[in-house]
Amino acid sequence: MVIVAPSLLSSDLFALSDQLKTIKASPAQYLHVDIMDGHYVPNINFGDKFVSEVRAHTDLTLDCHIMVQDPEQVVFDVAKAGGDILTFHPETTQHAYRLIEEIHKLGKKAGIAFDPALGIAAYEDLFPIVDQVLVMTVSPGFGGQTFIENMLGKIAAVKKLQQENNYHFDIEVDGGINAQTGQQCVTSGANVLVAGSFVFKNDIQTAIAQLSQLQ
Ligand code: DX5
Ligand code: ZN
Repeated sequence: MVIVAPSLLSSDLFALSDQLKTIKASPAQYLHVDIMDGHYVPNINFGDKFVSEVRAHTDLTLDCHIMVQDPEQVVFDVAKAGGDILTFHPETTQHAYRLIEEIHKLGKKAGIAFDPALGIAAYEDLFPIVDQVLVMTVSPGFGGQTFIENMLGKIAAVKKLQQENNYHFDIEVDGGINAQTGQQCVTSGANVLVAGSFVFKNDIQTAIAQLSQLQ
């Protein structure tokens, strides 16, 4: 029931081929790829070339988390490279509604991500058309940070709106997710768990299995 999305930010890039095989043999359904610009977030990492390389080696859903100012500049390249879900931070663009529509025109899924400091109210008008709402449970930019427990209320608020209005989006959480915090998020309404350090700093298969069994 719960979808597990191992975050490749914490993977061993020199062993990625083996790690992808291990993940393939696990219950994980997504691979989470963080794309950062050193501007919206204070870190730089993967881009569309990496997405296309990973695409060539997996049939798992590529869940692309775009932490970039003016996401129009990279979203389409990431889509072309084989990203399946394109999630951006709505405050990084003037035209979030249009960007979601354009992602849909490409036959891709569109998501919006909420920084811990960003309330959902200003972006509720996007909820009827998005495929995924990502509630960040750390400040975006780095792996290995501590889960912000205050975000559980935001997850529950998103879940409440989803149920009241029959919205179809998935509710994803990202940052500091392990078996304990993952359980808290699932209890609050999340159904997609991103996990970087917890997966790659432990036995990959065991960690993914633990997360996938949460309910
Ligand atoms: C942080 C990224 C996360 C990161 C999570 O900005 O969006 O996807 O990889 O790492 P952990 O699970 O270690 O907090
Ligand atoms: Zn992420």
